[in-house]
Amino acid sequence: MSTPTVYVGMSADLIHPGHINILEQAAELGDVIIGLLTDAAIASYKRLPHMTYEQRYRVVESLKGVVKVVPQETLDYVPNLERLRPDYVVHGDDWRTGVQAETRQRVIDALEQWGGRLVEVPYTQGISSTQLNNSVKQVGTTPAVRLSRLRRLIDNKPIVRMMEAHNGLTGLIVETTEAQRDGRRVEFDGMWSSSLTDSTSRGKPDIEAVDISSRLQNINDMFEVTTKPLIFDGDTGGKPEHFSFTVRSLERLGVSAVIIEDKEGLKRNSLFGTEVEQTQSSIEDFCTRLAIGKQVQVTDDFMIIARIESLILDKGMEDAVKRAEAYIDAGADGIMIHSRRKEPDEIFEFCARAEQLPTHVPIVVVPTSYNHVSEQELADRGVKVVIYANHMLRAAYPQMVKVAESVLHHGRSLEADQYLAPIADALAIIPDNR
Ligand code: SPV
Ligand code: MG
Repeated sequence: MSTPTVYVGMSADLIHPGHINILEQAAELGDVIIGLLTDAAIASYKRLPHMTYEQRYRVVESLKGVVKVVPQETLDYVPNLERLRPDYVVHGDDWRTGVQAETRQRVIDALEQWGGRLVEVPYTQGISSTQLNNSVKQVGTTPAVRLSRLRRLIDNKPIVRMMEAHNGLTGLIVETTEAQRDGRRVEFDGMWSSSLTDSTSRGKPDIEAVDISSRLQNINDMFEVTTKPLIFDGDTGGKPEHFSFTVRSLERLGVSAVIIEDKEGLKRNSLFGTEVEQTQSSIEDFCTRLAIGKQVQVTDDFMIIARIESLILDKGMEDAVKRAEAYIDAGADGIMIHSRRKEPDEIFEFCARAEQLPTHVPIVVVPTSYNHVSEQELADRGVKVVIYANHMLRAAYPQMVKVAESVLHHGRSLEADQYLAPIADALAIIPDNR
């Protein structure tokens, strides 16, 4: 009789004794085949793993008792199980409740078809991937690891979700906030360093008046307390000769991407549209700017994303599509298409047109005015990155004004308490406060 086969599905990002317990018990039952979850499979239900698939593969293939490693492309085990028809599946018993309960039931049902059996190993107390993940986050990250994370997210998630941050505190909010959506834990994938909010928080208009050095200082503050990737709003990129220095500085810090927009002269915020004088660059000039950036970047992973302002400036869809094609030819790693309409129609139309272009790059959108559109709808149209561009700043501002007015009006601060976090909460925001 041939040796029974035992299937163990694993992410194997942070291997700990709990995994070893499972593997030891699996090895007692037969030949262990690891179904190693791909980055996309893991990202579909929790965060992107720290290590790439190849790195995780190297680790698990050398673990004692492992005979073979195969990719598991989905959270669902069934496709691999039906192909391999193992005698056993071994898993920790912690998946009986929560998001994985349904996955577990499907495993049981599949095994039944050929008389296979699910063996559950009691959860190892005192250690978990979540704990380890938090510790890893506390240790921090390196510029190179952070930088490459955006491309990994784009490659492995249906849509990448960025939230504006403009200082350490807002960076921390983006880093740590979690919520439940349709029974799954969701979080932000990274930060957007907005020229609008960097300017506004300094009391200045959004006209490239805040110099790059002070914007980089903001990023440094955020990077000190976070591990997630960041996209930098590079405005027009400045003088082409200066843009090359900006690209180098951003890369050195570990910023993943810069977005530059095809405007020139005095840049005003796009949401003003045609109410103010704004000049769009010629295709040739903007392609030169893009090419200069692409030439000086050091890593392969850094992205230079071209932002098209044709719809903002009422230049029409044909102009937007023509520019997209030219910018992609000039080396743009992504296209941000901006709109100030209340409806996403023109964004959807652009996505359909971009689909027809000979080369495809990730599409980035900023749904500030058409904010009823959902991430799902955007992903369905082919959008790869959604940026919530100014929301942390706009959340704080009205509250601060209310409090200021209340103190003035009442001659004391008691009445303002309703708008304030209790002082204990304010201390607890930063876990290391003593
Ligand atoms: C920003 O956040 O600064 C942007 C996006 O550039 S928008 O304000 O919509 O132009
Ligand atoms: Mg901006």
